[in-house]
Amino acid sequence: MINKRKVLKNKALLLGVTGGVAAYKSVELVRRLIDGGASVSVIMTEAAQKFVTPLSLEIASLNTVHTDLYSHPMAHITLPAHADFMVIAPATANLIGKFAHGLADDLLSTCLLAFRGKVLIAPSMNWRMYTNPVVQENLASLLSRGVVQVGPEEGRLACGEEGPGRMSEVPDIVAAVESALAKKDLANERILVTAGPTREYIDHVRFISNRSSGKMGYAVARAALRRGADVTLISGSTSLHRPQGVNFIPVETAEDMLRKVREEIPSSTVLVMAAAVADFMPGEKSPGKIAKKYGLLLNLVRTPDILMEISREKRRPFLVGFAAETGEKVGNAKKKLKEKKLDLIVFNDVTEPGAGFDVDTNKVILIDSKEQKKLPLLSKDEVADAILDRITEIKA
Ligand code: CTP
Repeated sequence: MINKRKVLKNKALLLGVTGGVAAYKSVELVRRLIDGGASVSVIMTEAAQKFVTPLSLEIASLNTVHTDLYSHPMAHITLPAHADFMVIAPATANLIGKFAHGLADDLLSTCLLAFRGKVLIAPSMNWRMYTNPVVQENLASLLSRGVVQVGPEEGRLACGEEGPGRMSEVPDIVAAVESALAKKDLANERILVTAGPTREYIDHVRFISNRSSGKMGYAVARAALRRGADVTLISGSTSLHRPQGVNFIPVETAEDMLRKVREEIPSSTVLVMAAAVADFMPGEKSPGKIAKKYGLLLNLVRTPDILMEISREKRRPFLVGFAAETGEKVGNAKKKLKEKKLDLIVFNDVTEPGAGFDVDTNKVILIDSKEQKKLPLLSKDEVADAILDRITEIKA
């Protein structure tokens, strides 16, 4: 499968599902973890089976779902022994309490005690329960022993009340699993990523934009985060899920983007300009809405070239540009590398199958002053890791 990610590939995960209303999300979670290249074995508590059936999780995981401590006498030892990582999602207050105090009265709690690797929990409960000091103490005790916690989110809860207690969304749980498994080789980097298209306004309601989905830039931001970097994401308008843990700065126009990039540059060690900045903007923006009866003739002027501007600065971070070309015009990319004084440029031919707009894959050539590295068709997540690998190699 093409959207495998390096960090999940061939990892054996043990997922514990407990009896919270968010248990339905565990089916999607299993699918996304498998998409990433992991194998998943599921253990359900008795209460979890009131919310979602073992059959659903069996179909999603393509694996037997385990529910009973006694059906296989050694399951509580063999299941954890064969796992690289354990995830509990949703994790109820009861499970958290049992785990914090070393209680083991069913298959899941017994496996947790027998497991020697890292454990991630995604709490899910009513806000009154979550904020109860005893639950907070139990969580603090687990965290002090190296357990990783993701969420919960603030928001509308199943009971209709608002507050902290909603289990994190599936992409955030997957990202937290990846982060817990990943090497932290970028812990000393502060990476600024731009992503998505810019919008250049014609009048109050109309704008010029382009086909960029933002997927490549968001993949770089996620990969940098899981590898331990401090990440700021300056994003044009996209429909993508905002990665949890980034400093997120939404922008619309090329001029906005330049302003925000300038603000962030002094505290950044690397700038990855994955945004598809519009090259042209209307010479003047009409304040209201232009009525169609007048017709429309646009006078377009150049937008600021953000990379060019930053490359002229005295104190500039490591600069990475993208060259989206139609056709194998590697020469153009090399020219941009020189002209914009970049440290690295990522060339891709947007007419190649699987390498264009709005797809989850990309086929790129990484070009710097010394080397040209052609990569096969990969998921954007894998391309993101390859870009970050190359940055660390060049900077070393
Ligand atoms: N870029 C930028 N500011 C712009 C336009 C582009 O910083 N106004 C950045 C892009 O984010 C990308 C790189 O420059 O990292 C190359 O962009 P691309 O559009 O491929 O090249 P251009 O330099 O705009 O040249 P051309 O459109 O003539 O191919």
